[in-house]
Amino acid sequence: MILQFLLSFSVFIQVSGSACLLKCKDNYMNGMSFVMADARADWSTEMITPLQHLLSSFDRRSALRGRLVRSCRLNTDYSSCLNACGQEVEMAAQILLEGQRTWNVICDRFYNDTNREFAERILPCWITNGSVIAYRCSHAAHDLQSEVVKLVSGGRDSIMDQLPRFCKTTYNYDRCFTRANADVCPSEHASKLIIYLAHVTSNTLMDLLDRTGKLQSILPESCRDWMNQKGMSSSSALRLQRNRNDAPAAGAAAAVI
Ligand SMILES: *[C@@H]1O[C@H](CO)[C@@H](O)[C@H](O)[C@H]1NC(C)=O
Ligand SMILES: *[C@@H]1O[C@H](CO)[C@@H](O)[C@H](O)[C@H]1NC(C)=O
Repeated sequence: MILQFLLSFSVFIQVSGSACLLKCKDNYMNGMSFVMADARADWSTEMITPLQHLLSSFDRRSALRGRLVRSCRLNTDYSSCLNACGQEVEMAAQILLEGQRTWNVICDRFYNDTNREFAERILPCWITNGSVIAYRCSHAAHDLQSEVVKLVSGGRDSIMDQLPRFCKTTYNYDRCFTRANADVCPSEHASKLIIYLAHVTSNTLMDLLDRTGKLQSILPESCRDWMNQKGMSSSSALRLQRNRNDAPAAGAAAAVI
């Protein structure tokens, strides 16, 4: 999910880059910036929050579907490309492949939609209301993007210092997205998928950070809240949405945790 972060990450854990990996990555990034061509912001930071980006700024009915088709094709090509780079860069390729876990989930739901849940319950709402979700969380997404830049540029040794803020910002973003989604797409289906994606992302990132050998065994509280998705279950997100008018947001969150 967080490609830019992952690239710097390979450097963190001292795996070598290679011309082959860079070629795969460049093709992927170029393809994605073309798919998301109407994006206003800089694509390299938009990579950090792809779903945010996928849902923002589209106004034609077909746009989201078309973006999914092209993004998923690029995702498949990118994975094949990385896998073909050979054994000497296997570890770096593996890190980049893990960064695609979120896309793998999205594309799997989109194409292997046997009970038509994605097509009938999730996609129609994201097509009409997805831009509202993205708009509401654009501040949180921006904060997250700058936090990622800080984490990466701080280097390996400062990971534990940066981690509490990083987890807090990511948790804020995930919570914002979950709530906004529950608000405008109040079906269990979309909520469950968003929460699952947040779960996949937090676990992937922690797995990767763990490889730096710099993570301490007791994670900061903000990281535990994030990984446990405190207050983010689909029922609490929906309950929050119902209670929204009765209590200030923070109070409502405390009430359902
Ligand atoms: C669909 O499911 C099959 C079998 O689980 C999997 O191999 C394939 O990658 C999935 N397709 C997509 C687009 O995720
Ligand atoms: C979009 O959100 C509105 C409320 O903001 C809701 O009434 C409507 O049902 C939603 N659209 C879909 C397709 O769920």
